[in-house]
Amino acid sequence: MKNKILVTGGAGYIGSHTCIALHQAGYDIVVYDNLSNSSREAINRVSTLIGQPIEFIEGDIRDTELLRQVFTKHEFFGVIHFAGLKAVGESVAKPLLYYNNNVSGTITLLEAMAEANVKNLVFSSSATVYGDPEVLPIDETSPRSCTNPYGQSKLTVEHILEELAATNDGWNLIPLRYFNPVGAHPSGQIGEDPNDIPNNLMPYISQVAVGKLEKLSIFGNDYPTVDGTGVRDFIHVTDLAQGHVAALNYLQKQVGQDKYSSIGFLPINLGTGKGTSVLELVTAFSKVSGQDILYQFDARRAGDIASCYASADKAKELLGWEAKLSINEMCQDTWRWQSMNPNGYNIA
Ligand code: NAD
Ligand code: WQD
Repeated sequence: MKNKILVTGGAGYIGSHTCIALHQAGYDIVVYDNLSNSSREAINRVSTLIGQPIEFIEGDIRDTELLRQVFTKHEFFGVIHFAGLKAVGESVAKPLLYYNNNVSGTITLLEAMAEANVKNLVFSSSATVYGDPEVLPIDETSPRSCTNPYGQSKLTVEHILEELAATNDGWNLIPLRYFNPVGAHPSGQIGEDPNDIPNNLMPYISQVAVGKLEKLSIFGNDYPTVDGTGVRDFIHVTDLAQGHVAALNYLQKQVGQDKYSSIGFLPINLGTGKGTSVLELVTAFSKVSGQDILYQFDARRAGDIASCYASADKAKELLGWEAKLSINEMCQDTWRWQSMNPNGYNIA
């Protein structure tokens, strides 16, 4: 069985953790990343953690010729496609950039895969494709809609994958819809390293805890939730990484069957199935880190929803995967990474 995997965006937050899990599961990896939102240092640290060098190609998923060379040089079983831009606010200001990078980039990648006859793909989708859900927990049949270009770019890619699988034989396409990834590798060597002031809650909290930011603004305390603050399904990034291994193992098993028929388009949620409020997360982080987290209540953030958490049943049934780590472990590992690396990968 072929076990070499192309990991686009493998230098990024989720990609770097997944590279470790893939290596531990016996997969060979080739990382392809343009480093637009990551650093070489992440690759160095992953290499140290797994005890061997990583094959790394600095390249853009929109570069047809380079992709062609990579697919000619290596015989891949499949691709895990993390590469993409992910800042919701920036996507509103720069929609063309987001559609170009996330949608055109994915089309270019799919064309290169088709040319090389590599038809197994795991794609980073997002719970954002569910918009404001009518029913909780959210299962994979829930209606999809998005209100910002980032979300729309994920939804558009899902539609493209769906149509490709419906009309072309042999494709096995698994969009994994992540809920809210947080946490870091337990070594404290790799983690989330936002370029600027963080947009997301967990890195904001951890930067307040470490003294880089003064105070957290909690966006809204009048939601119909347990304490009025937003509720999300936070999932530890190492659990998420294992979800990718489980998806690949599933593809290997299906493709290896005697009477093999392609899987087509198979979306799967990766979440814990549990909701935690913003205030509950702040309290847990404060306890685990022993730091006061100064906060104030502010107005709701435009585009936010009250509550969002997954039904994680499909991942358990099909992939035999479920999240194992608790909110406390998510906070502990985030805190270890943040306190050991107050400036992220910027070690200069
Ligand atoms: P990240 O920014 O840390 O990682 C993305 C990586 O892709 C970066 O290393 C970046 O340099 C690379 N990249 C971007 N555009 C590229 C291009 N054109 N060519 C080559 N490389 C490119 O983000 P992440 O949090 O690790 O997210 C990974 C994927 O998961 C993204 O597609 C993101 O949209 C999706 N996702 C993330 C979250 C989240 O909250 N972190 C939630 C749901 C989905
Ligand atoms: C969580 C909660 C905020 C920051 C986003 C994307 C989504 C996905 C994951 C990629 C909300 C509150 C936040 C702060 C706060 N990414 N909050 N103060 O909005 O659920 O999802 O990241 O696919 O597409 O939209 O995550 O961490 O930004 O917010 O009070 O400074 O924390 O209002 O209730 P979100 P988040």
